Amino acid sequence: MKGKGWPKWARFMIKDWYYEDKGRAHDEFGEVFLVVSPGDLVCYVAAAKTAMNITSSQRKVFLKMREKTKMLDLFGPSVATTNGDAWRFHLRITLPPFGDALRQLVWVETRRQASMLAKAWTKNGVGQQLKHGIYLLTVNVASLANFGRRGDWTDGPENTPPNHKLSLAAAITLLNDYLGQILLMPKWLLAAQGVTEPDGRTGFTNKEIKGNLFLFLAAGYETTANSMLSSCIFLALHGDIQDRIIEEVDCVHHQAIEVSRVELSYTDDMPKFRYLTSFMYESLRVFTIVQSITRKVYEPQNLLVHDSSTGETRNVQLPAGTAVIINNVALHFLPLNWPSPHVLEPRRWLVSEPNTFDPLEKPTAAQEADMAAGTTPIPNHERGTFMAFNEGLRACLGRIFAKAEFVAFFAHMLRDHRFELDEDVSPADVERIMRLRSGGSVVTLTPSENVRVRLVPRKK
Ligand code: HEM
Repeated sequence: MKGKGWPKWARFMIKDWYYEDKGRAHDEFGEVFLVVSPGDLVCYVAAAKTAMNITSSQRKVFLKMREKTKMLDLFGPSVATTNGDAWRFHLRITLPPFGDALRQLVWVETRRQASMLAKAWTKNGVGQQLKHGIYLLTVNVASLANFGRRGDWTDGPENTPPNHKLSLAAAITLLNDYLGQILLMPKWLLAAQGVTEPDGRTGFTNKEIKGNLFLFLAAGYETTANSMLSSCIFLALHGDIQDRIIEEVDCVHHQAIEVSRVELSYTDDMPKFRYLTSFMYESLRVFTIVQSITRKVYEPQNLLVHDSSTGETRNVQLPAGTAVIINNVALHFLPLNWPSPHVLEPRRWLVSEPNTFDPLEKPTAAQEADMAAGTTPIPNHERGTFMAFNEGLRACLGRIFAKAEFVAFFAHMLRDHRFELDEDVSPADVERIMRLRSGGSVVTLTPSENVRVRLVPRKK
């Protein structure tokens, strides 16, 4: 080691190494490689087809890791922490509410919250409040969707119910701030109540209801908040992208006014936000909020490995107890999957073959035609090349919920305002922070610094 820095394997011990590494480990050791350590065997995967073999496996072999799910089962088991038949049972109950009615509610409530937030930010300035404001807005939307409780965009005493010390939003924000410590706390300290589970039941027990409510907050709130937070910063950095979104926002509003509609609606207007939706996917590709998908095999298991460059396949046997980690960041930064991967370019998602669009080349005639027609489905990438929401059996249940919230938020904010960096903030420093550093949240990737932006009235 003398004078040669850290040994190569040391990187795997650093939390969030995926983000800072951007797939370099796979350039060195291969698309699929095994780390053998005294504690564990870990198989890292950055090949799209192999990743899909893992996430789409119908056989009950690549399972959520018990060590991890046990920690998340703080209040009870949930759809995200169960495997096999128990998971199917949870899914049957939790999936139906995720329909159009919920998305419409999310759309309307996000616009209402965004309007309060815009007023506060234009009056008092954003200052250090960007993260706080967006987190609070997301909590309020989640609390209406999950608990039916509407809170205004403030966590002040006026929102605290009688006989309580905190508003719901303040309690959730606090829970999130201390999630790391709470998850590691012995269960008995949390004074969990014993609940008898009836046999042959058709509904959830109290424990399962609590488990799922906690999970929906944990899975849905910080992820969505961080995707909106990082996107505000990207917009302040990339004025050209922001200009195009503003053009789209104005155009959709104009079309609504022409048919005498004052407010934008989820059903009529959400599908028109093609560029804004593409921006969401692109910022999730570059700023990979969920950096990895973790599974484990509890019995010896064959893994069908596809070589992406030759197309050859081979079977490798994984010993029982091997952790299998799909490296989402590497999949998002592989030039084979995404040409010139470091370039933030929403237009990739507007063409029929997003994985062939090179932002550093002039678009082909076919790509120009796709963009002009505006009819290709979004997203339309090759499966396994974009894993921000996971793909396959255990894909995110809240992805359309998150998309409705994201689009409603930016469509509202950019109607009369734009995001800019504070005058004394260096764009080059912010770009470096965003691309190279992870903020170290327990669950998700978060910007590592509270970047100072301004919400300024648009010149019309
Ligand atoms: C931008 C926002 C979001 C991102 C990036 C995201 C990402 C993900 C990812 C990567 C997974 C798969 C984890 C794995 O397989 O190990 C997942 C699962 C899940 N997500 Fe999301 N999520 C987002 C928003 C939401 C929202 C808003 C909700 C709920 C309201 C939600 C609910 C869930 C649930 C319940 C699962 C577990 C599904 C299962 O295991 O069957 N997510 N999410």
